[in-house]
Amino acid sequence: MNFQIENNIFWQKKFINKNLREKKNKHVSLVLWFTGLSGSGKSTISNYLEKKLYNLKFNTYLLDGDNIRTGLCKDLSFCSKDRLENIRRIAEVSKLMLDAGLLVLTSVISPNNSHRNLAKDIIGRKNFIEIFVDTPIEICEKRDPKKLYKKYRMGKIKNFTGLDSKYENPKNPDIHINGTEDLNNIIDKIIIFLKKKLV
Ligand code: ADX
Repeated sequence: MNFQIENNIFWQKKFINKNLREKKNKHVSLVLWFTGLSGSGKSTISNYLEKKLYNLKFNTYLLDGDNIRTGLCKDLSFCSKDRLENIRRIAEVSKLMLDAGLLVLTSVISPNNSHRNLAKDIIGRKNFIEIFVDTPIEICEKRDPKKLYKKYRMGKIKNFTGLDSKYENPKNPDIHINGTEDLNNIIDKIIIFLKKKLV
Protein backbone atom coordinates (compact mmCIF):
# COMPACT_ATOMS: atom_id res chain seq x y z
CA MET A 1 0.00 0.00 0.00
CA ASN A 2 2.80 2.42 0.76
CA PHE A 3 6.13 3.29 -0.70
CA GLN A 4 8.87 5.37 0.78
CA ILE A 5 9.62 8.69 -0.91
CA GLU A 6 12.59 10.00 1.06
CA ASN A 7 13.54 10.74 4.64
CA ASN A 8 10.81 8.77 6.37
CA ILE A 9 7.92 10.01 4.22
CA PHE A 10 5.65 7.28 2.84
CA TRP A 11 3.15 7.76 0.03
CA GLN A 12 -0.20 6.53 1.32
CA LYS A 13 -2.31 4.80 -1.29
CA LYS A 14 -6.02 5.59 -0.97
CA PHE A 15 -9.05 3.47 -1.83
CA ILE A 16 -10.93 6.36 -3.41
CA ASN A 17 -9.00 7.79 -6.33
CA LYS A 18 -9.40 10.26 -9.19
CA ASN A 19 -10.81 7.62 -11.55
CA LEU A 20 -13.62 6.74 -9.19
CA ARG A 21 -14.44 10.37 -8.62
CA GLU A 22 -14.49 11.08 -12.33
CA LYS A 23 -16.90 8.18 -12.86
CA LYS A 24 -19.16 9.47 -10.11
CA ASN A 25 -19.04 13.02 -11.55
CA LYS A 26 -19.57 11.76 -15.09
CA HIS A 27 -16.79 13.97 -16.41
CA VAL A 28 -13.01 14.00 -16.38
CA SER A 29 -11.07 16.41 -14.20
CA LEU A 30 -8.74 18.94 -15.79
CA VAL A 31 -6.96 22.17 -14.98
CA LEU A 32 -7.73 25.15 -17.22
CA TRP A 33 -4.78 27.46 -16.62
CA PHE A 34 -5.49 31.05 -17.73
CA THR A 35 -2.41 33.22 -18.22
CA GLY A 36 -2.15 36.84 -19.35
CA LEU A 37 -1.42 40.39 -18.24
CA SER A 38 -3.23 42.19 -15.46
CA GLY A 39 -6.39 43.57 -17.06
CA SER A 40 -6.25 41.11 -19.97
CA GLY A 41 -9.61 39.59 -19.03
CA LYS A 42 -8.51 36.35 -17.32
CA SER A 43 -10.69 36.78 -14.25
CA THR A 44 -13.76 37.89 -16.18
CA ILE A 45 -13.48 35.06 -18.71
CA SER A 46 -12.77 32.35 -16.12
CA ASN A 47 -15.61 33.60 -13.92
CA TYR A 48 -18.18 33.51 -16.76
CA LEU A 49 -16.83 30.19 -17.98
CA GLU A 50 -17.15 28.67 -14.51
CA LYS A 51 -20.76 29.86 -14.32
CA LYS A 52 -21.52 28.26 -17.67
CA LEU A 53 -19.83 24.97 -16.74
CA TYR A 54 -21.60 24.96 -13.37
CA ASN A 55 -24.94 25.38 -15.12
CA LEU A 56 -24.00 22.47 -17.39
CA LYS A 57 -23.57 20.40 -14.16
CA PHE A 58 -19.80 20.20 -14.12
CA ASN A 59 -18.07 20.20 -10.74
CA THR A 60 -15.79 23.22 -10.88
CA TYR A 61 -13.59 25.44 -8.76
CA LEU A 62 -12.01 28.76 -9.74
CA LEU A 63 -8.69 29.72 -8.16
CA ASP A 64 -8.22 33.43 -8.78
CA GLY A 65 -4.72 34.87 -8.29
CA ASP A 66 -5.88 38.05 -6.58
CA ASN A 67 -8.09 36.12 -4.12
CA ILE A 68 -5.37 33.58 -3.32
CA ARG A 69 -2.98 36.40 -2.53
CA THR A 70 -5.33 37.40 0.32
CA GLY A 71 -4.87 34.01 2.04
CA LEU A 72 -2.65 31.09 1.04
CA CYS A 73 -0.14 33.40 -0.69
CA LYS A 74 -0.50 36.57 1.36
CA ASP A 75 3.11 36.33 2.51
CA LEU A 76 4.40 36.61 -1.08
CA SER A 77 5.52 39.71 -3.00
CA PHE A 78 5.87 40.25 -6.74
CA CYS A 79 9.63 39.61 -6.92
CA SER A 80 10.50 36.73 -9.25
CA LYS A 81 11.28 34.24 -6.46
CA ASP A 82 7.92 34.89 -4.79
CA ARG A 83 6.01 34.75 -8.06
CA LEU A 84 7.47 31.31 -8.67
CA GLU A 85 6.44 30.21 -5.17
CA ASN A 86 2.98 31.66 -5.81
CA ILE A 87 2.65 29.50 -8.92
CA ARG A 88 4.04 26.42 -7.16
CA ARG A 89 1.42 26.70 -4.40
CA ILE A 90 -1.44 27.30 -6.82
CA ALA A 91 -0.29 24.36 -8.95
CA GLU A 92 -0.12 22.09 -5.89
CA VAL A 93 -3.62 23.14 -4.81
CA SER A 94 -4.86 22.58 -8.37
CA LYS A 95 -3.33 19.11 -8.30
CA LEU A 96 -5.25 18.26 -5.14
CA MET A 97 -8.46 19.59 -6.64
CA LEU A 98 -7.78 17.59 -9.77
CA ASP A 99 -7.46 14.47 -7.64
CA ALA A 100 -10.75 15.47 -5.98
CA GLY A 101 -12.39 15.15 -9.42
CA LEU A 102 -12.92 18.81 -10.17
CA LEU A 103 -12.65 20.88 -13.27
CA VAL A 104 -10.24 23.50 -11.95
CA LEU A 105 -9.91 26.97 -13.44
CA THR A 106 -6.92 29.07 -12.45
CA SER A 107 -6.54 32.72 -13.23
CA VAL A 108 -2.99 33.83 -12.48
CA ILE A 109 -0.67 36.03 -14.51
CA SER A 110 2.07 33.34 -14.37
CA PRO A 111 4.35 35.60 -16.42
CA ASN A 112 7.21 33.29 -17.40
CA ASN A 113 7.52 30.09 -19.38
CA SER A 114 9.41 28.66 -16.41
CA HIS A 115 6.42 29.39 -14.13
CA ARG A 116 3.98 27.67 -16.46
CA ASN A 117 6.35 24.76 -17.03
CA LEU A 118 6.59 24.27 -13.28
CA ALA A 119 2.78 24.23 -13.06
CA LYS A 120 2.61 21.75 -15.95
CA ASP A 121 5.17 19.48 -14.28
CA ILE A 122 3.31 19.53 -10.96
CA ILE A 123 -0.15 19.03 -12.46
CA GLY A 124 0.89 16.68 -15.28
CA ARG A 125 0.86 17.65 -18.95
CA LYS A 126 -2.18 15.58 -19.90
CA ASN A 127 -4.32 17.29 -17.25
CA PHE A 128 -3.17 20.82 -18.08
CA ILE A 129 -4.88 23.10 -20.59
CA GLU A 130 -2.99 26.34 -21.11
CA ILE A 131 -5.22 29.26 -22.10
CA PHE A 132 -3.44 32.44 -23.16
CA VAL A 133 -5.59 35.54 -22.85
CA ASP A 134 -3.76 37.71 -25.34
CA THR A 135 -4.63 41.38 -24.89
CA PRO A 136 -2.27 44.20 -25.94
CA ILE A 137 -0.84 45.99 -22.93
CA GLU A 138 -2.13 49.36 -24.23
CA ILE A 139 -5.67 47.99 -23.97
CA CYS A 140 -5.05 46.50 -20.51
CA GLU A 141 -3.77 49.88 -19.41
CA LYS A 142 -6.78 51.65 -20.90
CA ARG A 143 -9.15 49.28 -19.07
CA ASP A 144 -7.15 49.46 -15.83
CA PRO A 145 -10.00 48.03 -13.70
CA LYS A 146 -7.94 48.11 -10.49
CA LYS A 147 -6.16 51.39 -11.26
CA LEU A 148 -2.82 49.59 -10.89
CA TYR A 149 -1.37 50.82 -14.19
CA LYS A 150 -2.16 54.34 -13.03
CA LYS A 151 -0.43 53.66 -9.72
CA TYR A 152 2.60 52.33 -11.61
CA ARG A 153 2.75 55.49 -13.76
CA MET A 154 2.62 57.56 -10.58
CA GLY A 155 5.62 55.61 -9.27
CA LYS A 156 3.61 54.05 -6.45
CA ILE A 157 4.27 50.40 -7.41
CA LYS A 158 7.06 48.55 -9.14
CA ASN A 159 7.73 45.09 -10.63
CA PHE A 160 4.52 45.52 -12.56
CA THR A 161 3.97 42.78 -15.13
CA GLY A 162 4.38 43.93 -18.73
CA LEU A 163 6.03 47.20 -17.68
CA ASP A 164 9.14 46.88 -15.48
CA SER A 165 8.62 43.13 -15.03
CA LYS A 166 8.61 40.86 -18.06
CA TYR A 167 5.65 38.85 -19.41
CA GLU A 168 6.68 36.05 -21.79
CA ASN A 169 3.96 35.04 -24.24
CA PRO A 170 3.23 31.29 -24.07
CA LYS A 171 4.96 29.54 -26.97
CA ASN A 172 2.31 26.99 -27.81
CA PRO A 173 -0.86 27.47 -25.74
CA ASP A 174 -3.68 24.94 -26.06
CA ILE A 175 -6.13 27.80 -26.55
CA HIS A 176 -5.13 31.26 -27.77
CA ILE A 177 -7.76 33.85 -26.92
CA ASN A 178 -7.93 37.31 -28.44
CA GLY A 179 -8.78 39.24 -25.28
CA THR A 180 -10.43 42.06 -27.22
CA GLU A 181 -13.04 39.77 -28.75
CA ASP A 182 -16.65 39.58 -27.57
CA LEU A 183 -16.93 37.69 -24.24
CA ASN A 184 -19.64 35.31 -25.49
CA ASN A 185 -17.50 34.33 -28.49
CA ILE A 186 -14.54 33.70 -26.21
CA ILE A 187 -16.59 31.46 -23.89
CA ASP A 188 -18.03 29.57 -26.88
CA LYS A 189 -14.54 29.00 -28.27
CA ILE A 190 -13.35 27.48 -24.99
CA ILE A 191 -16.49 25.34 -24.60
CA ILE A 192 -16.06 23.96 -28.13
CA PHE A 193 -12.47 23.01 -27.30
CA LEU A 194 -13.53 21.41 -24.00
CA LYS A 195 -16.40 19.37 -25.43
CA LYS A 196 -13.87 17.02 -27.02
CA LYS A 197 -11.98 16.60 -23.74
CA LEU A 198 -14.56 16.46 -20.99
CA VAL A 199 -16.53 13.26 -21.51
S1 ADX B 1 1.69 36.29 -10.58
O1 ADX B 1 2.58 37.11 -11.42
O2 ADX B 1 2.31 35.92 -9.31
O3 ADX B 1 1.18 35.13 -11.33
P1 ADX B 1 -0.97 36.92 -9.62
O4 ADX B 1 -1.88 36.49 -10.71
O5 ADX B 1 -0.82 36.06 -8.42
O6 ADX B 1 0.48 37.27 -10.28
O7 ADX B 1 -1.42 38.36 -9.08
C1 ADX B 1 -1.62 39.37 -9.98
C2 ADX B 1 -2.63 40.37 -9.43
O8 ADX B 1 -2.05 41.10 -8.38
C3 ADX B 1 -2.97 41.35 -10.52
O9 ADX B 1 -4.18 41.00 -11.15
C4 ADX B 1 -3.08 42.66 -9.78
O10 ADX B 1 -4.41 42.87 -9.35
C5 ADX B 1 -2.25 42.49 -8.54
N1 ADX B 1 -0.91 43.12 -8.54
C6 ADX B 1 -0.43 43.88 -7.55
N2 ADX B 1 0.84 44.24 -7.81
C7 ADX B 1 1.17 43.70 -9.00
C8 ADX B 1 2.37 43.72 -9.79
N3 ADX B 1 3.46 44.37 -9.41
N4 ADX B 1 2.36 43.05 -10.97
C9 ADX B 1 1.26 42.39 -11.37
N5 ADX B 1 0.11 42.33 -10.67
C10 ADX B 1 0.06 42.98 -9.48
